[in-house]
Amino acid sequence: MRELKIEAARAALGQVTDGMRLGIGTGSTAEEFVRLLAERVADGLSVIGVPTSERTAGLCMELGVPLTTLDETPALDLTIDGADEIGPGLALVKGGGGALLREKIVAAASARMVVIADQSKLVETLGQFPLPIEVNAFGLRATMLAVEEVARELGLKGSLAVRQRAGEPFLTDGGHLIVDASFGRIPDPRALASALNAIPGVVEHGLFLDLADTAFIAGDGGVRTVGAF
Ligand code: A5P
Repeated sequence: MRELKIEAARAALGQVTDGMRLGIGTGSTAEEFVRLLAERVADGLSVIGVPTSERTAGLCMELGVPLTTLDETPALDLTIDGADEIGPGLALVKGGGGALLREKIVAAASARMVVIADQSKLVETLGQFPLPIEVNAFGLRATMLAVEEVARELGLKGSLAVRQRAGEPFLTDGGHLIVDASFGRIPDPRALASALNAIPGVVEHGLFLDLADTAFIAGDGGVRTVGAF
């Protein structure tokens, strides 16, 4: 499995050219990309990166990948990130690592987004992976009720769970909570995305629609390119 992540990351590295301003994703696949990128940087490649999480920032600093912030560099050339699910039209579920808010802000600030993944992430319908919804802690129960209401209206069934880590509520880098929504199937991601966006306590959700341009999907037969190249 790790080999496939490395292969996908290597394909994405082929898209990186000297002088690029990069968005750098979060998760085990994005970390393989950081390791490969760091080797190229050590060989003289000049890039600057905006990390999508404190975890990615730490790895970049450890490996010598130069970093900036989105405030200093608000327009990026290319973001490379992993995904939890990749559906038709490169619609994604992201946020398994809890970094979805910064990931979405960074991807939206990039001219292009490239997704890297092994083939297990490809799905025909999104939703098997619980959808991460980042919420403000204030009014948590009211926000969860509103999410349940939206789900009911869209015919979605499934439970909501506040993500825990070591017996405590998981906190994102922005200090918010994550509600994982186990819908099983999300036949209309666009309708769900706009309904969730309309709930005041929802900070962001893990449906990434119209953001990814290309995906490099690694499988036993090699790396497949999906979307525009
Ligand atoms: C992080 O919040 C997520 O969006 C990751 O991109 C996603 O969970 C993929 O992670 P892996 O590459 O570890 O599967």
